[in-house]
Amino acid sequence: MQSILVVGGAGYIGSHMLSHLQNAGYQPIVLDNLSTGHRDAVINAELIVGDMGDAALLDQLFQQHRFSAVMHFAGCIEVQESVTHPLKYYKNNVAATMTLLEKMQQYDVNHLIFSSTAAVYGEPQTALITEKHPLNPVNPYGRSKLMVEQIIKDMSEQGILKYAILRYFNAAGADKKKGMKERHQPETHLIPLILQVAQGIRENITIFGADYPTIDGTCVRDYIHVTDLCEAHLHALIWLLTKKQNVVCNLGVGRGYSVLEVLKVAREITAHSIPMVVSEKRPGDPASLVADPLLAYETWGWKASADLEMMVRDAWEASRELIKNEV
Ligand SMILES: NC(=O)c1ccc[n+]([C@@H]2O[C@H](COP(=O)([O-])OP(=O)(O)OC[C@H]3O[C@@H](n4cnc5c(N)ncnc54)[C@H](O)[C@@H]3O)[C@@H](O)[C@H]2O)c1
Repeated sequence: MQSILVVGGAGYIGSHMLSHLQNAGYQPIVLDNLSTGHRDAVINAELIVGDMGDAALLDQLFQQHRFSAVMHFAGCIEVQESVTHPLKYYKNNVAATMTLLEKMQQYDVNHLIFSSTAAVYGEPQTALITEKHPLNPVNPYGRSKLMVEQIIKDMSEQGILKYAILRYFNAAGADKKKGMKERHQPETHLIPLILQVAQGIRENITIFGADYPTIDGTCVRDYIHVTDLCEAHLHALIWLLTKKQNVVCNLGVGRGYSVLEVLKVAREITAHSIPMVVSEKRPGDPASLVADPLLAYETWGWKASADLEMMVRDAWEASRELIKNEV
């Protein structure tokens, strides 16, 4: 059985990835410092609690296991925090990743799947964003991801590794069969925030800006179900291990929804009025961010299948733990 090191595997997306790997016959081994992850999100896999920037720990790990690939989900992910605390982002997302990459090179582990983001594109110049869109990130979070992309490409140029760089748009939903859910602390993502209002955890949802040039004035984003994301990762892994070719690929649906559209769906599903408050626009929030998902389809014959209603419904059911541990 091939072992895969899942760095950040106790986090939202990484922990969802574990069962996909197991079902496909791989053995995931998780490295996570639990800074934002959750121990109980790691189901049926070994968890090593530690930092990807800890060279001595990585020595031990790479000596104990022969990994076929590394899936790198770890990082700090809050755009607004990255503006106020840039060093935290460059230290964790870039410097700690460099230690991980250094150890991969030292131990000859040469397949990497890296979680990048649509934030590397910055302000969109086209309605649908292809991978060829200019890269002009407008905040330290996006810049930290772009720096890592560049480092990975430079290493690959020297034959050190092969990579799949996956630029996610907005991950949403949950694997309801496994009783998993999105548990960011603090939560900054729209769908879980909206659902917290329906659960009585928050009084209302703040909408940042209602006069954008979009269908209803609110920001439009491309939401992709976390299960779809994981399936795409599996395609990327198999492709990387067999074809040994690099790829940089968007992971999105190719359809955008405005904040008000998401709210409408959430109101229907939760049967809650979910009051909203309109606030000032946030600096660096583009009006619309929607993926052109064609390359993923051309490369792996894969496209996302879940729609917004499924994402909100799964997130809602998971957040209420209605079907926790259902198999
Ligand atoms: N959630 C999204 O919508 C989204 C969108 C685009 C890109 N991404 C990227 O996907 C990845 C996963 O996102 P997520 O939503 O699951 O975030 P998350 O915060 O839930 O998971 C990140 C995990 O990494 C761990 N971690 C952080 N720094 C670490 C370090 N130095 N060493 C070891 N572990 C460390 C955390 O404890 C956490 O478990 C991130 O890299 C993020 O930038 C996410």
